[in-house]
Amino acid sequence: MPAARIEEVRNDVSALAQAVPTARELMQAMAKLLHDRMLRYNWVGFYLLEPGAQPPMLVLGAFEGAMTPHTRIPLNQGICGAAASSGQTVVVDDVTKDPRYLACSLETKSEIVVPVFAHGKVVGELDIDSHFPAAFTAEHQDLVQHCAMLVGKKLETSGH
Ligand code: SME
Repeated sequence: MPAARIEEVRNDVSALAQAVPTARELMQAMAKLLHDRMLRYNWVGFYLLEPGAQPPMLVLGAFEGAMTPHTRIPLNQGICGAAASSGQTVVVDDVTKDPRYLACSLETKSEIVVPVFAHGKVVGELDIDSHFPAAFTAEHQDLVQHCAMLVGKKLETSGH
């Protein structure tokens, strides 16, 4: 994908973050924009940490793509749990080679999960699956991290 196209999508998600009033609306609109415009982003969704839950639990929020069986994920499971518990972006080029992977669709070949931070703490994450192996190169990682940052800022300024 040409760098100019990634830049265009980056500008459009930034404009979206300015335009919508709440984090909930931003997550919905952002999932749709990324799913519609990035042809290799075949499932795009947010998981949010359930407030006060012990043990901590990731709960499926806004998403675009087929329904997933994984609507609640503990922090010790999956690529999702790994990203949220470490506070680090996780990129998996070939999901069949990662024992942590929880299957959402048989077609998924690669995945990226980027934590969302608000007030310095992980509050959720942006998860994207692709039907193509190694879809999430460094340029894509930058874009997805930018998206997660915009949601974190919105949560800080506007709440849910
Ligand atoms: N693959 C994720 C589970 C969520 S689905 O991809 C939507 C994981 O391994 O945590």
